[in-house]
Amino acid sequence: MTTAKSTTSPQTDAPGSSLILLDNVKKYYYMGNQEVRALDGVTVSFAQGDFWAIMGPSGSGKSTMLNILGCLDHPTSGRFVLDGYDASDLDDDERSELRLRRLGFIFQSFNLIPQLTVQENIELPLYYLGYEAERSARRAEELADMVGLADRLAHRPMELSGGQQQRVAVARSLANDPAVLLADEPTGNLDSSTGVAIMELLADLNRQGKTIVMVTHEQNIAAYAACRMHMLDGKIDRIEGVDEPEITSPPPLPNSAEGSR
Ligand SMILES: Nc1ncnc2c1ncn2[C@@H]1O[C@H](COP(=O)(O)OP(=O)(O)O)[C@@H](O)[C@H]1O
Ligand SMILES: [Mg+2]
Repeated sequence: MTTAKSTTSPQTDAPGSSLILLDNVKKYYYMGNQEVRALDGVTVSFAQGDFWAIMGPSGSGKSTMLNILGCLDHPTSGRFVLDGYDASDLDDDERSELRLRRLGFIFQSFNLIPQLTVQENIELPLYYLGYEAERSARRAEELADMVGLADRLAHRPMELSGGQQQRVAVARSLANDPAVLLADEPTGNLDSSTGVAIMELLADLNRQGKTIVMVTHEQNIAAYAACRMHMLDGKIDRIEGVDEPEITSPPPLPNSAEGSR
């Protein structure tokens, strides 16, 4: 495997420092002579330790945004900086490398490999990273324990409930200690109480400092995220939960009418 040296070490780790930057990012698709503006000039930054929910109606650009953040796709134009690396113009191999080393993914449909045990599913990213077997096994055990499945290591996905399968997927997503966890409708295939348990797990990870970006269309699921972005027609419609920019000069004095009351 080629190792792009530029993708191996984190560039930022202080809480609150900018981890992801999208600067006027556009993604256009061309269907015949029709232009589809899936993302139409998105500018936003996600800080280290943030928990974001991306919301919006079907077709508003949520998946396109997550695919770009996840280095699965590249923007038509604009700048995308991830963990200090300009990822706007990486080729396919470089994007794969960045995904393997710096990102974790959680999907609506779990995406576990049915033939592999829980332990082997969690270890899969470590296998690709070239971890030695014993170290990889130890890491998988730790992660299984953390998601409450220490006694299921030898089971296969089919023998687990949906909620347990998603726990395995969360454990797998953490194996490479990613800079960012990306989740696409992580509770979409779960009943509501199981969904809540998975969200509690993600909220816990965020409290421990993990940066999470999640797509969801459910208000009660989005409520776990402190920052919420609403997309509309490929643009950011509004953002909730992000602090006002720091005021560097003193605020203006109240006007005289108010001051004299
Ligand atoms: N591969 C593609 N080719 C052409 N159009 C696409 C493609 N992917 C997405 N689109 C279009 O881009 C827009 C945004 O899609 P998407 O990001 O999937 O929205 P959402 O996830 O919010 O439902 C939609 O109009 C969709 O039809
Ligand atoms: Mg989508």
